[in-house]
Amino acid sequence: MIRPLEPASEGHRDVRVWDPLLRIAHWSFPLIILMMWWTAENSKWALHRQTGLVLLGLLTFRFVWGFVGPKTARFSDFIKGPGTVLSYLKAGRGGEWTRIGHSPLGGWSTLVLLSVMLAQVSMGLFAGDPYDGMTGPLNALVGVQTADSITQLHETFFWVIAGLIALHLAAITYYAVKGNDLLGPMVSGHRPPLSGVAGIGPTPWVRAALAIMVAAGFAVWIAYGASPLT
Ligand code: HEM
Repeated sequence: MIRPLEPASEGHRDVRVWDPLLRIAHWSFPLIILMMWWTAENSKWALHRQTGLVLLGLLTFRFVWGFVGPKTARFSDFIKGPGTVLSYLKAGRGGEWTRIGHSPLGGWSTLVLLSVMLAQVSMGLFAGDPYDGMTGPLNALVGVQTADSITQLHETFFWVIAGLIALHLAAITYYAVKGNDLLGPMVSGHRPPLSGVAGIGPTPWVRAALAIMVAAGFAVWIAYGASPLT
């Protein structure tokens, strides 16, 4: 159930746009991606595997949060049809937007970024060579040759993610130049008031606790080999 929005703020109080858990998940992504890259470059495979499992937990949380979190965290709030995306692009609203949350274009970029990270983590689960070093926890489910191909794809795919992150940062810079500060709200959770637009309500902490338990439980289950699958 979506909580009702707070009444539109009177005066000039900032409105709440992003809940703290979404922001913690978001700011963990750059740190974890850097860590994954560094551990791979320096052959710290045990740490690489552990960090990947933390990323799996975070992504699982973010996907669950996309269904049970506050309004702006929900996929239903920001995944819009092609018509809406096209009219957003045609309106050239790079510098202003009349609602809180992701724009129609930002919504799709969110889904793409989350999905490519999930694809990368999923490949890592099967990657590695059991006769030659560290493997992902689900490596035993695939043959050695399949695992080898997955490992190669996992390495190459990093550059797809790096490219998308570069695009993400370029888009945020573009909006900043147009006068639309997206960074501040992703840090503080608040943005300056928009006429007639209310902020999100309080964080639904019970649903948050359940989402965290589901995500952590899933990541731990995978970490221990996803019994009885393996
Ligand atoms: C590994 C690097 C990063 C990844 C994978 C990433 C991913 C994402 C994702 C998935 C979202 C959607 C948030 C959500 O709904 O959960 C998002 C939004 C956002 N990110 Fe990042 N991010 C990264 C780095 C950064 C950095 C370094 C900055 C700051 C310069 C940044 C600034 C933002 C902002 C401002 C938004 C909100 C965009 C909007 O209002 O629609 N991100 N990012």
